[in-house]
Amino acid sequence: MLSDQVLSQLKELVGPSYVLLEPEDLQRFGVDRTTLWQPNPCAVVLPATITAVQAIVLLANEHNLAIVPSGGRTGLSGGAVAKDGELIIALDRMNTVIEFNAIDRAITVGAGMITAEVQAFAASHDLLYPVDFAAAGSSQIGGNIATNAGGINVIRYGMTRDWIIGLRVVTGAGDILALNQGLLKNNTGYDFRHLFIGSEGTLGLICEATLQLTRPQTDTTVMVLGIKTFADIVEVLQAFTAQMALNAFEFFSQAALDKVTEGQGHPAPFATQTPFYALVEFETRPSTNDHAMALFEQCTAQGWVLDGVVSQSLAQARALWRLREDISETLWHWQPYKNDISVRISKMPDFLADVDELVSTRYPDFEIVWYGHIGDGNLHLNILKPQDLPQTDFFARCGAVSLEIGELLARYGGSISAEHGVGLLKKSLLPYSRSPVEIALMRSVKKTFDPKSILNPGKVFDSLT
Ligand code: MLT
Ligand code: ZN
Repeated sequence: MLSDQVLSQLKELVGPSYVLLEPEDLQRFGVDRTTLWQPNPCAVVLPATITAVQAIVLLANEHNLAIVPSGGRTGLSGGAVAKDGELIIALDRMNTVIEFNAIDRAITVGAGMITAEVQAFAASHDLLYPVDFAAAGSSQIGGNIATNAGGINVIRYGMTRDWIIGLRVVTGAGDILALNQGLLKNNTGYDFRHLFIGSEGTLGLICEATLQLTRPQTDTTVMVLGIKTFADIVEVLQAFTAQMALNAFEFFSQAALDKVTEGQGHPAPFATQTPFYALVEFETRPSTNDHAMALFEQCTAQGWVLDGVVSQSLAQARALWRLREDISETLWHWQPYKNDISVRISKMPDFLADVDELVSTRYPDFEIVWYGHIGDGNLHLNILKPQDLPQTDFFARCGAVSLEIGELLARYGGSISAEHGVGLLKKSLLPYSRSPVEIALMRSVKKTFDPKSILNPGKVFDSLT
């Protein structure tokens, strides 16, 4: 509960209509895409400037009020869930282009700007913001930065981190920091920018970001290949990446394809049904297309690939992408438990065999849907909830198996969260990827930037009191 005094101070800071208290607003802003926790924030506040954000953080410090930063709320790990009476700061009003510089090929935007709008702005200047994923139409750039979003083009362009050349943040202590200021070279001690990227709102509120843009791509060609086994996907990946520059190498299972074709009405890529599918994207040029066709034939001759299709137009390439990009949205119907794991590519063949065996032994009665960004070592293992099983029982069972997956990942030096972040969902798994010393250091870093632990408390790890 907010005291009347704090409430009227908040209203004074942002304007009365930008402090939301209606149950539907609290419900809407209090969760991300996870469905496990009940939202229960005390209020939602929508500041329009970084100084207003600073004033709110200082007020929260004074009154020991916990804050949950909120972006587009497309997160999958509970990082933006406000379940314990926190104050939500949403930056939806800070959603404009602040500066564009064609010489630097850089754009500075408010953190509340929708990712797809940033992409569209770049495109309107014949440039590219290359981080892309299915939720780009509703996620906000600040949230992307806070989780270091990855997506479908990581093998070519890297993660969000690789495109951030400047940040303005308000720390948990209420300081405004201007980090790196758009510089390409800046060796002046610790680069705090990179601490804030991927910090999941635990160190500060990202209010403005300067993004590096790049030259746009030429048109792209998409190939979907039907593949026989898990191990064969890795063979095909190696065959292609050894010889071609790819934009993407994604995979999905027949179960994923069935859900998408049934749920969205998309046509299957070809008549043959195969256990797995790889989606390969590359820039369209006569030489690359011929090369890809030769590799396709080589992989077919090896027996790894059973069928395939190559896009003949941009429209067909886009339609093939839908088969991969619409999986996540389609699966929400089954309230899936999501694992988002990664290992080094070189370890992938052995890891896949081990994780496949573990999962099929431990989930004999659950439906499993595999997909992900296998080109960068990232697998999305989704377990679908049987209709008659209560969600809490389902999550408890999946949580227990996830600990075993965590142990396996630890043996392989892998990650329990490749791109979705830790949030609330994967807190208990963190020790499988990060050592006790590292976690202790994370706690001290948090204390430095957020001494009263008011920012997104309980996310990523629990602070020691
Ligand atoms: C994806 O790759 O489709 C996204 O990370 C979302 C998901 O894993 O469900
Ligand atoms: Zn993904």
